[in-house]
Amino acid sequence: MDPIIGIDLGTTNSAVAHLTPDGPQIIPNAIGGRLTPSVVGVDESGTVVVGAAARELQVIRPDLCTALFKRSMGTERQVALGGRTFSPEELSGLVLRSLKADADAFFGKPVTRAVITVPAYFNDRQRKATLAAAKIAGLTAERILNEPTAAAIAYGFHDSRVDKTVLVFDLGGGTFDVSVVELFEGTLEVRASAGEAILGGEDFTRTLAARVLESVGLQFERAEATTPLLVARMIQQCERAKCALSREPTAVVRVPDANGELTTGREVTVTREQLDAWVSPILARIELPIRRALADAKLTRDKVSEVILVGGATRMPLVVSRVKELFGKNPHQRLNPDEVVALGAAVQAGLVGRAAAVEDLVVTDVAPFTLGVAISKDFGGDQRDGYFSPIIDRNTTIPVSRVSRYATVRANQTTISVQIYQGESRRVEENLLLGEFDVDGIPHGPAGQAVDIRFTYDLNGVLEVEAMVVATKRIVTHIIARHAKGLSDAQIRKAVADMKKLKTHPREEAVNRFLLTRAERVFKELPSDLRRDLSDLMDGFETALESRNPETIDQFRQSLEIFLSLHDPQDNDPSGNPA
Ligand SMILES: Nc1ncnc2c1ncn2[C@@H]1O[C@H](COP(=O)(O)OP(=O)(O)OP(=O)(O)O)[C@@H](O)[C@H]1O
Ligand SMILES: [Mg+2]
Repeated sequence: MDPIIGIDLGTTNSAVAHLTPDGPQIIPNAIGGRLTPSVVGVDESGTVVVGAAARELQVIRPDLCTALFKRSMGTERQVALGGRTFSPEELSGLVLRSLKADADAFFGKPVTRAVITVPAYFNDRQRKATLAAAKIAGLTAERILNEPTAAAIAYGFHDSRVDKTVLVFDLGGGTFDVSVVELFEGTLEVRASAGEAILGGEDFTRTLAARVLESVGLQFERAEATTPLLVARMIQQCERAKCALSREPTAVVRVPDANGELTTGREVTVTREQLDAWVSPILARIELPIRRALADAKLTRDKVSEVILVGGATRMPLVVSRVKELFGKNPHQRLNPDEVVALGAAVQAGLVGRAAAVEDLVVTDVAPFTLGVAISKDFGGDQRDGYFSPIIDRNTTIPVSRVSRYATVRANQTTISVQIYQGESRRVEENLLLGEFDVDGIPHGPAGQAVDIRFTYDLNGVLEVEAMVVATKRIVTHIIARHAKGLSDAQIRKAVADMKKLKTHPREEAVNRFLLTRAERVFKELPSDLRRDLSDLMDGFETALESRNPETIDQFRQSLEIFLSLHDPQDNDPSGNPA
């Protein structure tokens, strides 16, 4: 049986896992890390770098790197990098390809099947973009799984015998999702999901950076345009300070110069109270989705037996205390919040592959958005277009198939145009257009000729629409997957071919490359006496690499690693976990 892997394709970090008879397990990456930063760079030699090395490069050369592209999935945004442009699908594809390479190395054979997670609140277009990214990476996405559902599955796998209602609170780097999940007798039923597509730890970091810059007389956006190196370094400093403030009452942010070097000697001390006050207005946005998910699940807060925290940003004490205030109980974080989604995806992969370890587990999920068509309404003889008629209500259990009957509005109307929308507004212009098609062949006659429209929404959130002219039984089928804006099959094939042409570093060099990039970054942070020492060590290591003598390489690598472990203020362990 070919292995199927579970992948958490995150805004800041990604991870890959597989199911063993003892439960799901993370597959380490080429440098031994459990998380792979979702950062892509093209270095000066024109070679693509992904993951921890790209994250290091980003601090010193933000112009060569890009991150947070998950936020652009499903849009037409392009990122210029290394003399060409990349779509968000291609960038995500590069991250997936790197995770696939880790899995290939782990299993000793190519892995082609995966379960990939997306925020529950990803719309149809964003899901399609994720499927395209998988194809670009040479993977078949057997299932697109909602992240909070994946987390609930990981918890359900560990204590499946206890019946309870769980609220999964998932605050990652880029998105916020909340899901209400019922666990009973080995069945895991998602009752409702809601969320915010743009709310996460990265927003906290940027807010902190903006405030610190303000305190030294700089405005964030302006500084980003005029001194990008300063801002890139400031963001890195603030990321570090934000994480430190989860443990300590104060943290120091060193103010970089225009070249992004930490030589100014200027420091700003930030307290946890300050950070909390600055991010509170952003964090307040968690409340509406929570209320909505509970209302859709027809539950009140006191009926929630357990709150599970998922996502790195839930390490912030402010987040924990807000959740505690909202639910009147301490939330749980028994499983590592930044690995739990990948672990759940691996369990789902086991379900897809019918693994023995999960034969008693049943999982059901919901459609996070309402799906329907545009209609016109009659206001006392006045026909007005642009109203939304729901066919599948949000938070309906999937897979689902629903049919609604519509009618022509004019005499001798032989065609109707079916416009498919996703969203919660009464007017279609505020919802997302997924696709449209015409149904013709309606017999001549008075207004009121019936057309049945059937929506079938599958487990991956892929929609199929079928229209039937009732009088003639003529059926027109339309699969949104082929029509939705986004990459066409031809574009995907081109992307696959383009990806093959990209230069990459050999996998066995990953550890050394990462070490050198990290050393470059640390170099800029050190006072001059230490810089000299580090420079000598780096020269030695590079000479050793040239020599290709494994013993010499090991020896110099160890010296460099020891130096970095003593002098890297970030103490950046290769797991990719922020300090
Ligand atoms: N100790 C900590 N204190 C505060 N924030 C933290 C801490 N550790 C990690 N984070 C934040 O968690 C975020 C990353 O979390 P995670 O890896 O779960 O996100 P992701 O899966 O990449 O994103 P998403 O799920 O939104 O796509 C980052 O913004 C990071 O700064
Ligand atoms: Mg996540």
